[in-house]
Amino acid sequence: MLKNKLKILFAAAEVVPFAKTGGLADVAGALPKALKELGHDIIVVMPRYYKIDKSKLTKLPAPLGVPMGVMGELWAAVYTTTLPQSDVPIYFIDYEEYFGRHGLYEDENDGYHDNDNRFIFFSKAALQLCKMLQFTPDIIHANDWHTAAMPLLSRTRFVHDFAHTASVLTIHNLQHQGNFFKGIMDVMEVGWGHFNSHEFEDFDRVNLLKGAIEQADAVTTVSKKYAQEIQTEEFGFGLEKHIQAHAKKLFGILNGVDYNEWNPSLDNALAKKYDLDDMSGKLECKRDIQKHFNLEVRDDVALIGFVGRFAEQKGIGLIAGVINGILDLDVQIVMLGAGEKWAEGFFSDVAHHRANFGLHVGYSDALAHKIEAGSDMFLMPSIFEPCGLNQIYSLRYGTLPIVRAAGGLDDTIINFDENHKNGNGFKFYEASQDALYNTVLWAVDIYNNDKTEFKIMQKTAMKEHFSWIDSAKGYEAVYEYALSKKRVSK
Ligand code: ADP
Ligand code: GLC
Repeated sequence: MLKNKLKILFAAAEVVPFAKTGGLADVAGALPKALKELGHDIIVVMPRYYKIDKSKLTKLPAPLGVPMGVMGELWAAVYTTTLPQSDVPIYFIDYEEYFGRHGLYEDENDGYHDNDNRFIFFSKAALQLCKMLQFTPDIIHANDWHTAAMPLLSRTRFVHDFAHTASVLTIHNLQHQGNFFKGIMDVMEVGWGHFNSHEFEDFDRVNLLKGAIEQADAVTTVSKKYAQEIQTEEFGFGLEKHIQAHAKKLFGILNGVDYNEWNPSLDNALAKKYDLDDMSGKLECKRDIQKHFNLEVRDDVALIGFVGRFAEQKGIGLIAGVINGILDLDVQIVMLGAGEKWAEGFFSDVAHHRANFGLHVGYSDALAHKIEAGSDMFLMPSIFEPCGLNQIYSLRYGTLPIVRAAGGLDDTIINFDENHKNGNGFKFYEASQDALYNTVLWAVDIYNNDKTEFKIMQKTAMKEHFSWIDSAKGYEAVYEYALSKKRVSK
């Protein structure tokens, strides 16, 4: 039971359903609700990007002043509403010059040149907001590099209002660290003393995530395996030694699933809903997908789906290497994604030449749901994967994941085992084209030749439950830890 009711400020650059490029948004839209259910008093804050419709939000009467060093004080408007199906307040920082753009971080794959100012501004605004609301948090929960300045800001420039506040940093993806020209130290206004090799300095530049790993009272990642992996050279992106030095305060907490959103028995995006007791709707969904992508409508062919960013992280290089070989088999593949231009071009070319391949380049939430439901198997051969949500969604839809055993993929997928028969997917270990190809071959073989076993695995998968409440309990324990370890300001 709840020991202490905590006041929590949860800051994120993207939150479902308001703005999303990846799993961070799913987490930020769901975890605060679970923490609220556990009895905590939590508020969420994010930027008001251009595409977030202001007319559906309530404007706070007073503007918010945000000190930005030599740039002086900038004035933002603040809007608010609640997260859907909850009473968790969410606040939007509205500042046209920084956030009135179509992209969140980039346009056409080119990162905005002022991302440093944009997110230092946002981090400071989030802290100023607390003052304006007279909400003194016990915990500041920052997520990824975008809000990584908050732990230090809260104990230096803003310490007056946060003297008793502890900070927690969650790393959703170590690849993106917030690496900027060192002049940003002046905008942060935290003192150049923090520009040293143990904190924010990294090859004479500022590394926000590195600094936050030192400054936060606790650090979490989104699976236990990833918490181990980031301490190694293979997955540490140059920060492995730094992370090892702070390993005592590092915890791995697996993400959950919002089963109101991702559930075949409730999913309005599907051609037909279904569930464990009646799976007939899944076939309807398969036909729907085949029609959507102009594939031959056949119940008996293995249909393999992919949804995700076209980024090296997701193993798109491996897929590109084997896709033609796989398409020579009697299978169908559908892919939904966008990102690296070479991949968009390459897969478009494959789609042009192969009748059993369907591609949608772009972002579509509804299509993502349809692919989860209509596919027999879900492909996720990631090179690294802090948690990964799509494989967990797939389980609920009875769509068996084919994954590389990295990070959260390894923690959530149990390999099919002909002897023990308790698997929920197919796993390979080496990041090689051969390993991927052979595993797809194996999964397709089980689909074609051992239908009973395949069905048992689908049922096993659908019965799994990755609850946000369980994750929230994990965060609750980390918050208590952070409060007990809180360092005094320097
Ligand atoms: P990551 O955060 O690394 O991108 P996750 O698996 O944690 O990976 O989360 C990705 C989320 O983004 C999932 O909810 C997935 O459905 C969604 N997603 C990714 N690409 C697309 C796309 N092109 N269209 C719709 N949804 C997408
Ligand atoms: C990141 C990771 C992904 C994780 C998501 C949410 O974007 O790449 O593995 O599921 O954050 O934590």
